[in-house]
Amino acid sequence: MLNIKKVSVVQDGNNVCADIVGFDFNAYDKDDIAEVRKYWLQYGVLRFKNAAITDEQHIAFSRHFGEFVIHPKQLQEGGHPVHKEILVIANTMKDGKPTGAMGNSEATWHTDTWFYEKPPAGAILHAVEVPPEGGDTYFLSTYLAYETLPDDLLKAVDGRQIFFQRVYDKTGKLRLGKSVPRSEDFREWEGVVHPLVRTHADTERKSLYLGGTIEGAWIVGMPLNESNELLARLWKHTTEGGPVFVQKWDRGDIMMWDNRCTMHRRDSFDPGFTRIMHRTTTSGERPI
Ligand code: SIN
Repeated sequence: MLNIKKVSVVQDGNNVCADIVGFDFNAYDKDDIAEVRKYWLQYGVLRFKNAAITDEQHIAFSRHFGEFVIHPKQLQEGGHPVHKEILVIANTMKDGKPTGAMGNSEATWHTDTWFYEKPPAGAILHAVEVPPEGGDTYFLSTYLAYETLPDDLLKAVDGRQIFFQRVYDKTGKLRLGKSVPRSEDFREWEGVVHPLVRTHADTERKSLYLGGTIEGAWIVGMPLNESNELLARLWKHTTEGGPVFVQKWDRGDIMMWDNRCTMHRRDSFDPGFTRIMHRTTTSGERPI
């Protein structure tokens, strides 16, 4: 018998997110997982309200959706003391050192580790402790971003490739293991090239692939000023034009997203409050 009793679309998310109701993390079978997977592919973002799972349940559930990927932040302050599969996103400290990644700061719109050759397919984020306000997480669909492009932008992105440098992170810090490049032109730095319009390996729907920032991105073959202008228009269309689902966290909530067709961001919060999130990340394919 299926453990999922009902799946409803969250109306104010306009098809960006669906709530999964009735999934039992203590007792599920392969049919239940197949249902979750079906809705994950259909909606891109799923929410499990008040699931309050253990780390072991989190890992066991995530395993059904692919191999684990080590997020770069796990190799720094975001490593879990026991479980190598879990990224800790938190503003907590021990002995003067952070015990989680990202502190209390805002994270602007991005898709996860876009600078990888094979960016992850999925992420599953569990709220262990949340502040009374702030730290909301926002999601949008990059399928919808692509499908609602005006004709001139649709033409402009057709067949284009995008280069992302992978030497510096969004805050301007050198990424782990990278050294200051000799050239001043980021297009000559180490990086990765992906299609600007990617086709989802499972759904075969097309979506816009913008990565995490305009700085350090270049539409291959285009003069840089034109590339910047086009990227600015695409970012505006994607992040300001369409529906966004806002997750206001309760302790125990889980958000599960498909990184191949969504972007997310989060608000900052008062550093006087504690926010601890545990996240798993699962592997994806090279974008096509
Ligand atoms: C992230 O995975 O980008 C962080 C999301 C969050 O902390 O809400």
